[in-house]
Amino acid sequence: MKSIRHLSREDWVREGERFRRPYQSAYYAMYSSLWEGIVTDPLLMMVPADDHVVHRGDGVFEAVKCTGGALYNLTAHLDRLQASSDRLSLVWPWSRGEMTDRILATLSAGDHPEAMVRIFVTRGPGGFAVNPYECPCPQMYCVVTSLSQPFMVNHPAGARVRTSGLPAKAAFMATVKNCNYVPNMLMKKEAVDAGVDFVAGYDEHGFLTEGATENLGLVTTDRRLIFPQLGGILPGTTMLRVMELARGLIGKGLLNAVETANLTRDDVMASAELLITGTTVNVTAGIEYDGRPIGAGVPGPVQQALDAQLKVDMRTNPAVRTVVFI
Ligand SMILES: Cc1ncc(COP(=O)(O)O)c(C=O)c1O
Repeated sequence: MKSIRHLSREDWVREGERFRRPYQSAYYAMYSSLWEGIVTDPLLMMVPADDHVVHRGDGVFEAVKCTGGALYNLTAHLDRLQASSDRLSLVWPWSRGEMTDRILATLSAGDHPEAMVRIFVTRGPGGFAVNPYECPCPQMYCVVTSLSQPFMVNHPAGARVRTSGLPAKAAFMATVKNCNYVPNMLMKKEAVDAGVDFVAGYDEHGFLTEGATENLGLVTTDRRLIFPQLGGILPGTTMLRVMELARGLIGKGLLNAVETANLTRDDVMASAELLITGTTVNVTAGIEYDGRPIGAGVPGPVQQALDAQLKVDMRTNPAVRTVVFI
């Protein structure tokens, strides 16, 4: 048997230096309710092995974008975090106002006006069993990292999408933004392995669900914007905001209606436009589906109008901006 040395606390701190990696420069700051403090050294951004989020995925999270110095749609993200927490009987360690204070303080410590903020509420440290009652105190972690460019910035021609071969998540798991993203990881892997940008999931009835970390909707040839019904997908904050913005376009020549409905693969193939929405992708155009062009095979007018409106909303709408950097 190979002898592995036992590390003292001092050894551990010293040896930790060996784990510095170039990609860690994208990690700006982390708050932990365990320390009730913030660190900016990536090597200190740690979660204990006995937090049930590590070994059971027992936690919920949100990813919120800070752009132009302001968090976008924080209220909607905190509402969804609350809804996810309630579904798992997770009690926040802080009130909503106290959580917000800690999120804003972590973002400030990160010192980047363009950043991604991930907020986690976890079952917390306890034992290593599955029993949540082992854990006396739920925890909050907040991690601020770099923000990637929205998809269309680097891919102005639009996205290639294909049907996922994976089974859809059960509705309960799909609607709760919980820390078990193994099915989502497998969808992303599927897309990368197939050389496409996104995959689209379908439920057992053949109805469109969502992508790995994005919602999907379509524009019909008679100008209706339709997203899947909400019961079996994550209710995307971007999707819901885009639907609100889209209602303002009705009757102005681009759209006749904004709806949710059960959508099939045939509906997708016959659509005039395929839209992909999410915090990191904004409103992205799906221009090819299962190897065939969608509509004219180029980004369409509804995607362009909604993506532009979303950007204006992010930059200028005080109702959905929480300004952190002046
Ligand atoms: C499974 C899933 N669907 C949809 C979305 C889009 O949600 P949002 O627009 O709030 O980013 C996400 C976001 O990460 C997701 O993980």
